[in-house]
Amino acid sequence: MNVHDKGHADAAAAELSLADKKSTLPVRSGTLGPDVIDVGKLYRDTGCFTYDPGFTSTANCSSRITYIDGDAGILLYRGYPIDQLAEHSSFLEVCYLLLHGELPTHDQYAAFNTTIMRHTMLHEQMTRFFTGFRRDAHPMAVMVGTVGALSSFYHDSTDINDPAQRAMASHRMLAKMPTIASMAYKYSIGQPFIYPRNDLDYTTNFLQMCFAIPCEPYVANPVLTRALDRIFILHADHEQNASTSTVRLAGSSGANPFACIAAGIACLWGPAHGGANEAALNMLAEIGSVERIPEFIAKAKDKNSGFRLMGFGHRVYKNYDPRAKVMQKTCHEVLDALGIHNDPLLKVAIELERIALQDEYFIEKKLYPNIDFYSGITLRALGFPVSMFTVLFAIARTVGWIAQWKEMIEDPEQRIGRPRQLYMGAPERNYVPINER
Ligand code: SDX
Repeated sequence: MNVHDKGHADAAAAELSLADKKSTLPVRSGTLGPDVIDVGKLYRDTGCFTYDPGFTSTANCSSRITYIDGDAGILLYRGYPIDQLAEHSSFLEVCYLLLHGELPTHDQYAAFNTTIMRHTMLHEQMTRFFTGFRRDAHPMAVMVGTVGALSSFYHDSTDINDPAQRAMASHRMLAKMPTIASMAYKYSIGQPFIYPRNDLDYTTNFLQMCFAIPCEPYVANPVLTRALDRIFILHADHEQNASTSTVRLAGSSGANPFACIAAGIACLWGPAHGGANEAALNMLAEIGSVERIPEFIAKAKDKNSGFRLMGFGHRVYKNYDPRAKVMQKTCHEVLDALGIHNDPLLKVAIELERIALQDEYFIEKKLYPNIDFYSGITLRALGFPVSMFTVLFAIARTVGWIAQWKEMIEDPEQRIGRPRQLYMGAPERNYVPINER
């Protein structure tokens, strides 16, 4: 195959010849990043499929929302660098940006904030859902079940072809995720649910729903609130990651938005994806001391061990994850604000990072700390149990899932996702009655 006239989107094409068959495949250029070869007519021209398990070289859509340059360690939300947004913006403002494509004016932000905060309550009957779970149920199981069930309460926002209903469902999910998450947490510790408060900002309200008790007033620590709000910004979207692709695929069938987000939560739960923050903290606790780090580095390098350093490596980033740098800074801010100066796990994390970044294996495979490496230590310091870490990731990523789902619904190129396969099974054969086998 050769690609000629690179850079001129309209004229560029890839000529593919396979035995006696040929196919001229259009090459398309985006605003930033790699060109794509449109293989839509490959099967018709050649009778062959492309083969790319894990989609390492496959773009499944065009998008205007998030851009990642893995080699340069760049992450942009609607063109704005993640470190600038983390420094100067707020999570709810970033939600507006991801959903609408532009930063809001004062009036637009005020209206958006009011809309979201007016949808934070759950239908009262949903509180009974929680009593159906065991107290020790993993909160991610509660999130998958409860978010999926939202469609049974909010029929007036499940018609995905109605833009007004799409907007209503989007606002409801953004607003109710913190409420559901806090209820899952309260239920797990046997404390009463705390209702949302519309006079508080999005993240302070979430913290008070988690940590307030009816017996005394709750005063949030502004340093901790700011830290969690920044953590939500860092986790808000990340182009076509596994859970976002799950939401897009579920949405391509016309499933209602609540069901699609529940599918995204289920996928995020995996330890290779959103579950890595929980797995990374558990790994640091298992290492326990700086002295045991070499043992775990050796295990991570041993292919037969099946062990990977949680919080290290990334499918796209072959440089430092830009979110990890902000996460590390936030981690130190939170520990300082809480007067935690020699957290043993932080010591292990800093030494593990130092050793790994000098190790030939990690250098050669371009394995750097990702966003999950420092988030666990930070979230634990904020007072959350390990089991809630991925739930916090899900709260933040809900806006990314919704923005990507909305974009997919409105994209004229999109149709139901239906990948094909390389069949390696048995050729056709006849049924054999059991007494002849
Ligand atoms: C998230 O996609 C996203 O954007 C996800 C995310 C988002 O915001 O949505 O960024 C959030 O999920 C971050 C990643 C969190 N996961 C972890 O921290 C779990 C530990 N990391 C790995 O499981 C792994 O790095 C993945 C899953 C993240 C990526 O897996 P890949 O695509 O298989 O990694 P790779 O192709 O870059 O691996 C290259 C090599 C492989 O060895 P070889 O087959 O070439 O011999 O590096 C090895 C891998 O085995 N490797 C590791 C490793 N990660 C990759 N070896 C040891 N420890 C690791 N952590």
